[in-house]
This record gives sequence, C-alpha cells and structure tokens, in this order.
Amino acid sequence: MEKITAAITGVGSYVPDYRLTNQELETMVETNDEWIVSRTGIKERRILKDENAGTSFMAIRAAEALIENHNVDPQSIELVIVCTASPDLKAASTAVYTASQIGATNAFGFDLDAACSSFLYGMSVAARYIESGKYKRVLLIGADKCSSFIDYTDRATCIIFGDGAGAVLFEPNTEGYGIQDEELRSDGVGREFLNVKAGGSLLHTTEDTVKQGLHYVRQDGKTVFKQAVSKMADISEMILEKNNITHSDIQWMAAHQANKRIIDATANRLGIEKDKVLINIENYGNTTSATLPLLIADFEKQFKKGDRILFTTFGGGFTWGAMIVTWAY
Ligand code: UT7
Repeated sequence: MEKITAAITGVGSYVPDYRLTNQELETMVETNDEWIVSRTGIKERRILKDENAGTSFMAIRAAEALIENHNVDPQSIELVIVCTASPDLKAASTAVYTASQIGATNAFGFDLDAACSSFLYGMSVAARYIESGKYKRVLLIGADKCSSFIDYTDRATCIIFGDGAGAVLFEPNTEGYGIQDEELRSDGVGREFLNVKAGGSLLHTTEDTVKQGLHYVRQDGKTVFKQAVSKMADISEMILEKNNITHSDIQWMAAHQANKRIIDATANRLGIEKDKVLINIENYGNTTSATLPLLIADFEKQFKKGDRILFTTFGGGFTWGAMIVTWAY
C-alpha cells in the first residue's frame, strides 16, 4: 500500500480590524514604543472589540477565507479541530459551532488546548487522522481572543497579546509531501509560571477572584523567555539530527511568535539565517494558537513545492515541540 502523508493543501486567516498600537498602549500603562519594539518586536496587535463576538467569530472567518481561496466544499470536510486557549464557552466546543456555521455539516469537531503549542499539537493530531486513512479532509484552526483574558493595566502582559485566527486544510498525499516528523514534549512544572488562576475547576470564579483580577493571565516573563529559547532550540536540534539534516536543508523556520528576541535567539542557536526566519509578530503580537497558521497564511505565496519548513513552539504548561513539514503546492 502507498504511504500516506498529511499535507497542507489550503490556508485562510482572519484578524480583526482594530489595531491596538504601541502609541495607544502608552496612554494606558507606563510603557513606551521604544521599549516594546526593542524588547519584543511588536508594533501593534489586532483586537476583537465586539463584546458579543468570541473566538468562533474569528475561527469562522478564517475557515471561510480558506474555503473561498481554495474552492473547498464545506460538506466534504470530515473533522474540524479548533486549537484555542479561549473557547467561546465552557462545555460547548468552539469547533462544533464553527463547523456548523461554515456549513461543514458532515464533520465532527472538538477543541484542543495546549496554550501556545496548541496548533503544533493540532497538526500532529490532524496528521494521525489523515495518515491512518480514516479521514481525507481535516480542517485545523488556530484561534484566540487573547484580549478576553488580558488585564489592560498590567504592562507585563497587555503589550504582548493580540487576537486572530488562521485555518489550514490537511489532505492525504502519496508523493511524500506534508508532515515528515515531529517531537512534542510537555512539563507540568511550568504551570506556575504562566496561567489564568480563576475560572477553572481549581478555583472557580467568585466576586473575590474578580476583585483580585485572577481571571486575567499572569506570567513570569523572564522564566518563560529562558525556557522558550532553550526548549525550542534543543528540540529543533534533536529533530534535525534525527532526520539527518542540517539547518542548510531547511528553507523556512516558523516559530511561535511570542517575542522577536526569543525567535532570533532560537534561530541563532540553530544557525538558521535571518532570511529564512518567518516573522509577523510586529503586526499581531502573540496570538497564542493563531501564530503558526497566521505565519502560514502570510508567507504562503513565498513557499515553493518541496520547501522544508521547521515549525517550533513553546507555551504555557509548559508545552513545546518541533515539526518538519514539506510544502505540497
Ligand atoms: O507564548 C508564550 C508566552 N509568553 C512568552 O513567551 C513571553 C516570554 N517573556 C517575554 O517575552 C519577556 O520576558 C517580556 C516581554 C514579558 C518582558 O521582557 P524582559 O526583557 O524579560 O523584561 P523584564 O520583565 O526583565 O523587565 C525589564 C525592565 C524592568 O525594569 P527595571 O526593573 O530593569 O527597572 C521592568 O520593570 O523593563 C521594565 N518593564 C517595562 N518597561 C516598559 C517591564 N515591562 C515593561 C513595559 N514597558 N511594558
């Protein structure tokens, strides 16, 4: 039997219109454009201002863009996975609602949350469904309304995060294109360094938790920063070595966009040249589950069939990993 690989065959994205610039943030917290740009590389982020619109609003639009760009019949989609750390609701999957809204009425759906590594883990899950031969069209969406858990008086977090969504379609390939290999890891020691304390089963929301602002994300930025660089570089080195290739065999590096200095330091350690490193953090900030599909969407036109892309992420939990994908079109 022919070997089936899972290839990306289409992409779409959506970001809200509203641009929260560094200049506007200067009026909200004690910060300045020079500090933000030099410490993070971020110039602006998009914010979904409509209070009645949740993550699905963006997921639906990203999926619709994909459907239109690549002429996909929504009824042919068999599975919709929404990678997100900010689902619309608890106990009612954002993916299920998204699938219905885009007309994917033959699909089943579920959400997947591994913080900033959600989309990388999601690519792994989508690949297994395709490689098994069970399904032929898996729609993987990364979407987060980060503004729903940001304290806009906390300069350690509000300058970083933004909202957005991206969607990719996975289909079987028998010529060897698509996902080649992956290394995924997690370590629960990380949960104290980046989390939202209240609203989960450990500490449910009360008047008091709201008063204390425990429904907002908090992080120990320095610890997360150091871990991000060392874990992404280590695991990327490991996957290259395992596949008997070097940085010169990689055409593009697509790393989670959390901080430009993290991405630059990781690329440096790997010896990957600057012009191969995909960056769009200046426009969107850290959109959590959406950074990788937004990169794919923004740079799709520059990819050539057969290009090898190294994906790597690090996120809360901690969760991290690396994946090698060859571009299929
Ligand atoms: O996706 C995974 C999740 N997140 C991440 O990967 C984020 C990882 N961490 C980071 O990106 C960085 O740690 C931050 C961007 C959050 C912070 O950058 P940093 O270089 O680690 O800054 P710092 O917290 O060490 O602060 C350096 C200085 C401090 O002043 P002093 O003590 O040196 O006088 C801070 O008070 O910068 C100050 N500072 C700020 N100044 C202006 C901290 N935040 C700001 C700010 N504007 N927004």
